[in-house]
Amino acid sequence: MSTATPDSPAQRLEEAARDNLWLHFSKLSAYKDHPVPVITKGEGCYVEDVKGKRYLDALAGLFAVQIGYDYGEEIGEVAAGQLRELPFYTNWGFAHPPSIELAAELARIAPGSLSRSFFIGSGSEAVETAWKLARQYHAAQGERRWKAIARRYAYHGTTMGALSINGIPGLRTPWEPLVPGVTHVWNTNRYHRPLEETEEEFTAFLLEDLRHAIIQADPGSVAMVIMEPMQNQGGSLAPPAGYWAGVREICDEYGILLCADEVITGLGRLGAWFGSDLYGIQPDIMTCAKGLASGYAPIGAVLATDAVAEPFAEGENVFAHGSTYGGHPLTCAIAVKNLEIMHRDGVVDHAAANQDALKGSLDQLLDLPLVGDVRGAGYFYAIELVKDKDTHETLPMDQREKLFKGYLGPALFEQGLIARCEERILPLITISPPLVAGQAEFDEITRILGDVLAEAPKHLG
Ligand SMILES: Cc1ncc(COP(=O)(O)O)c(C=O)c1O
Repeated sequence: MSTATPDSPAQRLEEAARDNLWLHFSKLSAYKDHPVPVITKGEGCYVEDVKGKRYLDALAGLFAVQIGYDYGEEIGEVAAGQLRELPFYTNWGFAHPPSIELAAELARIAPGSLSRSFFIGSGSEAVETAWKLARQYHAAQGERRWKAIARRYAYHGTTMGALSINGIPGLRTPWEPLVPGVTHVWNTNRYHRPLEETEEEFTAFLLEDLRHAIIQADPGSVAMVIMEPMQNQGGSLAPPAGYWAGVREICDEYGILLCADEVITGLGRLGAWFGSDLYGIQPDIMTCAKGLASGYAPIGAVLATDAVAEPFAEGENVFAHGSTYGGHPLTCAIAVKNLEIMHRDGVVDHAAANQDALKGSLDQLLDLPLVGDVRGAGYFYAIELVKDKDTHETLPMDQREKLFKGYLGPALFEQGLIARCEERILPLITISPPLVAGQAEFDEITRILGDVLAEAPKHLG
């Protein structure tokens, strides 16, 4: 039931949304009993709904809005100027100033020799593009390699190629048969490893698993290993020491391209420009999206090193891939402006300087009986709820569902906090605020989480 005044503009919007709009990953039936949340305004780290209720957006509009919601005027001016000058031209065989400028800026800030950008519209398309690029790179070298290796429970998008790379069984099975040739290896969730295992042993175990997967797949058929610097699904999973150097070494040994999926971790989320900077990863290919334009425009990018671009630089080889709107002048101009703002206003430096304060604030929740772990880096944390804090035993599925669907999600929303509550893989709350958030926001996030989680044991059923 809507709490908006009958026949008010708010109610009309809620009803039209319920009747005509198809929300992503949402049950249409859910909106029979309660209204579709309609967000109408953004300011700083907050959004406001059509009825005037404010929410602290501790998820940055799905890990995207690095600069917060205050830059609409400034970015709007750039957008209007671009639309006056050149509303559209394609990147199929043509360039235009905004895509050139964006590619040049990315070459400047990206690690290593990732100097060539291919623009598309989303993170899924970026992952799709990366896999195709890896295949065609090998073809250009005279090798037929097509397989990809990703990690268990990792999310990489929804288009058929990206979905096939996903390691989340529940997302994959409804769409099977998927694109063949993907193997999933262990992810870096150390919290659920044997308590006595050392970090060194864990790294050795993971690298052994990767090597075996490659050998089992037949190394000469594997085109790409794709992994996030810090994996989102499973709860902000950091790499153990030595992991990325080992992954790089194994890829080199078998001639496999390494793709860092930085759709979330790129553009400051981890308190460094890229997760690859933070962990010393040297990817051949990098995907990014979300934070590239801080969500002010839909854009994704695939960055390739000089070495990956090299076989395409001579003769007849062509990367036979593209889309009409990839590298749209409007979205590129907005992304350029976003990066300029991030530099000018020291947004990544701010996140780096304040990440410990955010972690310190969230760590207070560890005193609560259900909170087993707070993990992550930068402005990207997961809070894992457990049955037993000593053994790390997880909550059984029936309790998770009761707790998350029946209480946690609705209670946080009611208290005005947007966070991600996800219980299918593990019972997790993800916190990933705009990179401009400071101590006031950290305190509010922690206070609301603390109040709501303190009551949570009563809702386990
Ligand atoms: C690591 C990663 N890759 C790819 C994607 C897909 O991005 P998009 O939703 O823009 O298609 C996501 C989305 O959350 C992601 O987290």
